Amino acid sequence: MAILINETKSIFTLQTDHSMYQMKVDQYGVLLHTYYGKKGDPFDYSYLITYADHGFSGNPYDAGEERTYSLDALPQEYPVYGSGDYRSTALKVCYPDGTHACELRYVRHRLQKGKYALPGLPTIYATQEDLADTLIITLEDTRRLFYVHLYYGVLENLNLITRSVCVENHGAETLYLEQAASVCVDLQHGGYHMHSFYGRHMKERTHQRFPIHHGIQSIGSSRGMSSHQHNPFFLLTSPQATEDNGECYGFSFLYSGDFLALGDKDQFDQTRILLGLHPDNFCYRLDKGDSFYAPEAVMAYTDQGMNALSQIYHRAYRRNLCRGRYKTARRPILLNSWESVYLDFDGKKLIEMAKDAARMGIELFVMDDGWFGKRDLDVSGLGDWHVNEEKLGCGLQELSDAIHALGMQFGIWFEPECINEDSDLYRKHPDWVLKVPGKAPVRGRYQLVLDFSREDVREHILNQICHVLDSAKIEYLKWDFNRSISDIYSAALPPQRQGEVAHRYILGLYDMLEKLTARYPDLLLEGCSGGGGRFDAGMLYYTPQIWCSDNTDAIDRLSIQYGTSFGYPISAVGSHVSHCPNDQTGRITPLETRATVAMAGTFGYELDTNEITEEEIPFIQRQILEFKKYYDLIQNGLYYRLTDLGEQPVFHGWEFVKEDGSEALLCVVALQIKANAARCCIRLKGLCADKTYLVDGEEYPGSVLMNGGYLIPHATTEYESFRIHIIEKNRE
Ligand code: DGJ
Repeated sequence: MAILINETKSIFTLQTDHSMYQMKVDQYGVLLHTYYGKKGDPFDYSYLITYADHGFSGNPYDAGEERTYSLDALPQEYPVYGSGDYRSTALKVCYPDGTHACELRYVRHRLQKGKYALPGLPTIYATQEDLADTLIITLEDTRRLFYVHLYYGVLENLNLITRSVCVENHGAETLYLEQAASVCVDLQHGGYHMHSFYGRHMKERTHQRFPIHHGIQSIGSSRGMSSHQHNPFFLLTSPQATEDNGECYGFSFLYSGDFLALGDKDQFDQTRILLGLHPDNFCYRLDKGDSFYAPEAVMAYTDQGMNALSQIYHRAYRRNLCRGRYKTARRPILLNSWESVYLDFDGKKLIEMAKDAARMGIELFVMDDGWFGKRDLDVSGLGDWHVNEEKLGCGLQELSDAIHALGMQFGIWFEPECINEDSDLYRKHPDWVLKVPGKAPVRGRYQLVLDFSREDVREHILNQICHVLDSAKIEYLKWDFNRSISDIYSAALPPQRQGEVAHRYILGLYDMLEKLTARYPDLLLEGCSGGGGRFDAGMLYYTPQIWCSDNTDAIDRLSIQYGTSFGYPISAVGSHVSHCPNDQTGRITPLETRATVAMAGTFGYELDTNEITEEEIPFIQRQILEFKKYYDLIQNGLYYRLTDLGEQPVFHGWEFVKEDGSEALLCVVALQIKANAARCCIRLKGLCADKTYLVDGEEYPGSVLMNGGYLIPHATTEYESFRIHIIEKNRE
């Protein structure tokens, strides 16, 4: 059992293969946090807590004259607003009398075999091979109006601890939940670095590392989506931690909407970490008997450095988060029409492109934006999900049949959550959008957002989508979302429930995705939000891959995909070879380099096949064969970052290694060309020290490749790249 309970001392110790997490109920019933780190003796770690008489840090009434007992200084599992703890807190409740002061005390606990699930929310699940247990600790507020159930999922072999919280109103009156974080971790000793992934549209998930200083450092989103600007995944590491060594904690939020993550270093140098729903735009009404579930957060710990931490998440998200056929089935290599033709196409043009694509070995043709309603520009048509046969010059079935006749699968784009005012749907149902009465809404890309908190709205859109999907053979669907949400107001809810709309919207989105995936289990879904605006673990529960960024420039993609790799597996990263010069940056890069970078993802193409020269075709054909050959190694192998992009290296490298160390693929992109320079060397990782490997016809012991390194060929053109296959001798 991964959960050890010392009933006499009221200690709960959660153990995974390599990590340990501990809590203790103290003499006043407060649930303290005592340890999170390397697995060891399940000793009582509360000896690490300092009790002292700190001025201006008050004492709870039940502590009597004990001035050394203050919640303002103690490491707590779920600190609450108004308890005398003046740091950032996890829970804020508005009581029926309008006050907020609150204290929680332990009531009971319960063990459950297996991993819990949450109603309507994505969660990590255990497979048959996994050892998983659940602990639920129940606290109650001292005014006896509600319970707080703290959920802990312990996945031993995955080295994960998951958390969620349920707030249950068991009193007679209505409460308003103003904040309910999913995770709090109080680390008493040591200094920490936080690593977050910031950006903007076309520059998502840039890695930044900074020491946590006194005060609050936060990242988050109040855009109604997890956002391009900050990702709901971050790391906390020791200041010395590197890719290969040192203590690292990971925090990942399985949620696609507003979130807040913060580090708060207090007056006693303790670091508090919080992660959960953003309290802005959030106020949930709980009537008598109602419960509210906070989304799941996934924590991991390792003392083996950041790369090892990433590998914990990669494995778990591939095996225990993604679902459906394409969790394991090989995903087809696709050609997407967006950067080829944008909105300017007809069926004939698409079929011509598809013919070229088929010749090159592409397996799936995706018709992006522009096939529906009145959609020649992005000012109209969203919401009218019926095929524009006049524009296409044919029906959808005809088009799909023509593509299938070429031996390819067919895919299609939707943006189900948005609507143009110039659409039949908006003219008929202007109240179906998020729009505050009496105020003109903020537009984004000429779009408004449909009120997905409403079941009738969702049902209408889902019916339209199903109608399209049932009208032709369609194997892939790209689910896009192209604006930040504003004007949060639902015409279907009373004023006192408007604070629920942003969260209900995400629950509605999940509900619809669940219905869609249940009805079309073989459909390959790709998430997208103007590229990577909703690249989060919540979406991965429904869509096993997500378009990583609208920036397809191979060199910009290095940093985007590098940052993404900290928290997400390669199999999640939608990545395509696009045309040159690049549409976003104008940069010129070799075709092979664009392929090297796109292969660190789901791999596909997004260019006008008319522009491909006869000389380029064999290269593309070879790239496709190569990707298929190494598919398993790339998608399911261990991923290693070999260089730190923040240090502006001469080249950038990464590596895929089979778990048994028998094979690897080293990928390198030259970033600087230097005349008359020595060759650069890169140290490989993850090989077996005592095995012999073949690289480019030469034999090397694994220890030599890892300690001495491999000499990268000289780059002779700008941004040249190399893909170097490494195989154990006698396995080739
Ligand atoms: C944004 C996406 O990220 C693009 O790939 C493309 O699908 C456009 N939307 C279409 O409007």
